[in-house]
This record gives sequence, structure tokens and C-alpha cells, in this order.
Amino acid sequence: MESKLLKSSLVNKLKIEKVRKKDFEKLIKVYEEAYRDLKDYAEEGYENILKYLNWLYKQDKEGFFVAKLNDEIIGFICADKNWTKDRGEIHEFVVSPKYQGLGIGKKLFETALEYLRKSGKKCVGLWVGEKNEKAKNFYKKYGFEYKGKIKIWEKYLKKFEEVDGE
Ligand code: ACO
Repeated sequence: MESKLLKSSLVNKLKIEKVRKKDFEKLIKVYEEAYRDLKDYAEEGYENILKYLNWLYKQDKEGFFVAKLNDEIIGFICADKNWTKDRGEIHEFVVSPKYQGLGIGKKLFETALEYLRKSGKKCVGLWVGEKNEKAKNFYKKYGFEYKGKIKIWEKYLKKFEEVDGE
């Protein structure tokens, strides 16, 4: 009960905002912490991560969202509406380890899905590390389906439901 209350009060305080370039220093820290035990699937070193963040920003800065709690950035997600005509892509998704499991990821992920759906995409795709069970379970819960594998990466896709009048 107590943890449920904590969870809902935390999520109520959470703000989801568009990223700003001046946030990048903090994003590098969150990224490094989140991938500490998943190094096979991450960029390594300050310069490489910064380069990667700049690439994500260039792809689609409108779809790059940060989660803030009391003005501190504790997670981010990068949705790309420019990936293909019909398919949006989620390139990156992280929550700081001490805030994982509290519904922050859920809120970020739903913001990204809504962004892509409203951008007129018919489906959304992503790639995830083969041994990243937590993230794979997360995506399956949202109706993502396994579509194949290249090396250590598994591909997942989800079709958006058609909404009447849109
Ligand atoms: N153990 C088991 N399941 C968990 C846990 C946990 N510790 N934490 C979350 N989940 C599952 C639960 O099923 C939960 O659903 P529920 O609310 O119905 O119980 C669901 O995930 C949602 O949990 P959130 O708390 O919203 O997710 P979280 O804030 O932990 O963020 C994320 C999920 C972003 C995957 C986080 O775990 C993370 O940063 N992981 C490391 C980096 C990573 O793997 N990123 C994804 C790479 S793939 C890509 O970017 C396209």
C-alpha cells in the first residue's frame, strides 16, 4: 500500500518535457548509470555518448523527451517520426536506476507512442539487446511483437490501432 502511494505521488510530480541541448551533460550521466549492467548494448565514454545524443537530437528533436522530478532529469526517450514514411522508431529509452520500477518509464513511453501516433505513423519499431529481458518484457506488455534478429539485436514492432475519424 505504502509503495503504491509513493509510486502514484511520484508519478504525479513527474514532468515530461522536450529536451534542451543544455540538458545533455545530465543525460550522459543518466545513460551511463542506466546501462551500467548492460554494457554490450551501450555507447561507451563521454565523447561517444555525446555524439550519439547529438545524432538523436538531429533525427527528431520534437520527439526527444525528458522526465523531470523536482527539476532533476531522471530519464529520457527518443522517438523519431522521420524514420520512414509509415513507421516511427524509438531509438533510446532510459530511466535512472534508483527511479526504475516506479512507473516513470511507462509515462515516458506512453508520451513517445502518442507523439508518433499523432504524427500519422502506422506503426512503431525499436531494437533491443537480446539479453535485456526487462526491456523486452516492457515492450511485450505494450503489444510489441518480435520480428527478427541481427547479431545481438532483436527487432520489435507494434501497429497502431486505427482510430475512427482520423
Ligand atoms: N523488475 C521486473 N519488471 C520491472 C521492473 C523490475 N525491477 N521494473 C519495471 N518492470 C516492468 C514492470 O512490468 C512494469 O509494469 P507494471 O507497472 O505493470 O508492474 C513495467 O516494467 C513498467 O515499469 P516502469 O517503472 O514504468 O519502467 P522503468 O521506469 O523501470 O523504465 C526502462 C523501464 C527504461 C527499460 C528501464 O528499466 C531502463 O532504463 N533500463 C536500462 C536501459 C534500457 O534497457 N533501455 C531500453 C533499451 S532498448 C531501447 O532503447 C529501444
